[in-house]
Amino acid sequence: MKSLPIIFCGLFATLALSWAGIIWRGQEQLGGLQPMSEYYAIDAVSESFRFEKPQKDETRNPEARVGLAQQGKAQYIGLGCVSCHTQQVRRKGFGADYERGWGARQTVPRDYIRQERVLTGFSRTGPDLSNVGERRDSANWFHAHLYNPQAVSPGSTMPPYAFLYEKREITQNGERSAKALELPTDEGYEIVPTLRAEALVAYLQSLKLDYNLPEVRLPEEPQN
Ligand code: HEC
Repeated sequence: MKSLPIIFCGLFATLALSWAGIIWRGQEQLGGLQPMSEYYAIDAVSESFRFEKPQKDETRNPEARVGLAQQGKAQYIGLGCVSCHTQQVRRKGFGADYERGWGARQTVPRDYIRQERVLTGFSRTGPDLSNVGERRDSANWFHAHLYNPQAVSPGSTMPPYAFLYEKREITQNGERSAKALELPTDEGYEIVPTLRAEALVAYLQSLKLDYNLPEVRLPEEPQN
């Protein structure tokens, strides 16, 4: 029993060191990240940020997600989309994310700092959605796909989310609702998105990796 204090100290040191390595060190490296404009550059010598260009039209990225798109994020979580989709573009050489067209640049920790719940995901049954708002620009495409993925993407294994839509009879003088989707349905009926569907699509459209950060830049557009 004499060795009990030694065992205790050994256990304590093991736990303390792993806590320091994983939690404290991680917090020290990433906990202080701030939104940054692209006019910052990393100073190679001091590793601190310095201004590269004048602060004209400066936007600090990533911007906060607000309004309907933020409500849509709750739908995305509630409907379990995260079980099949990631939101994390790996860097070149770590998989074929660029070749698949999932993003023009990799994601970095700073991309996630404004998010209370980060949905990097764990399984890629479907494509990565970090940049899907850039890839697909029409709301109608997203609605048509959610309503019936197989109709838009033949052979898709994504489940349909038709319960987010209402099939309504066109009553008032045969006039369609302004929100009715361009989807084939029975004669005299129309398909209208519910608020849940509208919020979810606003969220999907807001998923964009279209800005530069000091540590990662989009590839330069070829100059003609
Ligand atoms: C069972 C797995 C699964 C679930 C759950 C799922 N998806 Fe998908 N998703 C896929 C697959 C597979 C594809 C690729 C085929 C296709 O385009 O339908 C896809 C494609 C997509 C695309 C098109 C991406 C692109 O690059 O064109 C979007 C947008 C999308 N899903 C959104 C969602 C949303 C939003 C939810 C939750 C409401 C969801 N998915 C739930 C499997 C899934």
